[in-house]
Amino acid sequence: MFMRLQDCRNIADFRQLARQRLPGPIFHYIDGAADDEVTYRRNTAAYDDVDLVPSVLAGVEKIDMSTTVMGQKIDMPLFLAPTALQRLFHSDGEMAVGRAAEKFNTIFGVSSLGTVSIEKIGANIKTPKLFQLYYHKDKGLTRSMIDRCKENNFDAMALTVDTIVGGNRERDLHTGFTSPPRLTLKSLLSFATHPAWAIDYFTHEKFELSQLKGYVNEGTNIAISVADYFNTMLDQSMDWKAAEEINKYWGKPFALKGVMSVADAKRAVDIGATAIMVSNHGGRQLDGSRTPFDQLAEIVDAVGDKIDVICDGGIRRGTHVLKALSVGAKACSGGRMYLYALAAAGQAGVEKALGIMKTEIERDMKLMGCKSVKDLGRHNLRFR
Ligand code: FNR
Ligand code: LAC
Repeated sequence: MFMRLQDCRNIADFRQLARQRLPGPIFHYIDGAADDEVTYRRNTAAYDDVDLVPSVLAGVEKIDMSTTVMGQKIDMPLFLAPTALQRLFHSDGEMAVGRAAEKFNTIFGVSSLGTVSIEKIGANIKTPKLFQLYYHKDKGLTRSMIDRCKENNFDAMALTVDTIVGGNRERDLHTGFTSPPRLTLKSLLSFATHPAWAIDYFTHEKFELSQLKGYVNEGTNIAISVADYFNTMLDQSMDWKAAEEINKYWGKPFALKGVMSVADAKRAVDIGATAIMVSNHGGRQLDGSRTPFDQLAEIVDAVGDKIDVICDGGIRRGTHVLKALSVGAKACSGGRMYLYALAAAGQAGVEKALGIMKTEIERDMKLMGCKSVKDLGRHNLRFR
């Protein structure tokens, strides 16, 4: 079916529209994951193993969906996880995503592999901003990104800990996806068959990885795969001491993104982190990894009173958010749920996707008989 923005009623519809608009290699970069993509599928399917048990007659005319996470009060318990290369998906990239996040007063995650500078985002986007740090071998680069975030009043930082090497993303191998796109006969053909994307990409400001400028040419002027970028640029000796030092140097709310075990969650508390994002990177790294939702209960039981626990990944419906909050997450975050929409229709698309998610969460809370996110608990869940 030929899709338009007005046809999009859920995240799956946005995925279809993104698929229609994007050249194959770019769509599959967003949509794909590691190895057999078992973890990727399971990230969403895990929510189906749990049922919600609603309460009724609760007087839910007015409800409060706000939550506080990493010291930021946000109007809905779902925020935008940091994602790379956004101007490749739509020429407005991070500006579109940031402005949409601002309209919903939720956290805007900005990637180290972002395509709009920390300075421009800091000057223009007023919603709480989370910077995602990749720990580069080049310590001058790593430090410069933290310094720039301090100077531009970013509110929180997340150190990604699940990309110590590149995941095996076979769709990217198959399509030959690189950043920036390599101009081959095959890629030119895929641009020609997706003219709306091609005109948008080639008639706007030249693509760049703005946080790396001045340090690194790979990814901006030298076409490279994401896996090769991780394998050559990131520091595989990163350890707990490094994470602790970054936390101290940053000095504001700090999260580890990609924690999956109780033992690591406890160490995150020990190094003084504010939050952990329970995440397997949307299934893009270790296939066969357990899912954030399946792993949530034991982590919340161990550290939920000491640190903010965020459930990241697989979220496609409001009920997924309600289930994670019921287990004890402070908030949820997601990537593809807004990236499909960015690719589909820029800022208008992201706003519509966030509006759909917010409406779903609100409707579902009312149907659950919950006036505030605090009313959600394990009492309203049954595992199959
Ligand atoms: C990501 N993610 C990611 N994470 C990160 O720490 N730094 C990054 O640069 C990126 N880039 C990125 C690009 C794309 C295209 C995707 C799909 C994901 C992972 C992201 O922050 C988040 O953990 C996952 O997207 C969560 O899974 P869902 O919500 O996409 O299912
Ligand atoms: C990804 C990166 C860049 O998942 O984190 O593609």
